[in-house]
Amino acid sequence: MRKSLVRGAAFMLAASFAAYAHAQPNAAADASLDDAWRAVRIADCARCHGKDHEGLAAPSIVGFARTQGRERFLAAVLDGNPPMGMPAYRGTPLVADRIDAIYRYFAGRADGSIAPGAAPHGR
Ligand code: HEC
Repeated sequence: MRKSLVRGAAFMLAASFAAYAHAQPNAAADASLDDAWRAVRIADCARCHGKDHEGLAAPSIVGFARTQGRERFLAAVLDGNPPMGMPAYRGTPLVADRIDAIYRYFAGRADGSIAPGAAPHGR
């Protein structure tokens, strides 16, 4: 009886540790998405790409993320297309330093897992 209690407690400890360990990468990913959202707001991509980045003078970033892969997205933002009016952000740490999270933010918008408007986690 006592033995099985100990075993039960050890199991619960292991289970809660597994849950904790599992929650950490998600929490880190969530924070990086919120950080990406803030950077996109500060860089004011919406000035050209419109409300919720769904297109205005410039095409929809959400639509681009829906149809293009990560590599194309990174090139579009880091290299830009200055003759067509898209700045190159490679030299802008605000954007370049978190380009992967910015891509994941727009990929989330494209697949519907992230809603437009507020920060991904309401912060
Ligand atoms: C000064 C206006 C302007 C700003 C600010 C701007 N863009 Fe753009 N962007 C454009 C234009 C214009 C294009 C289309 C260029 C072309 O025709 O190839 C474009 C294209 C893109 C594309 C490729 C879309 C496609 O369909 O080819 C992506 C992705 C993109 N921008 C992301 C961003 C992000 C992210 C930001 C903010 C960090 C941003 N843009 C800020 C004007 C802007």
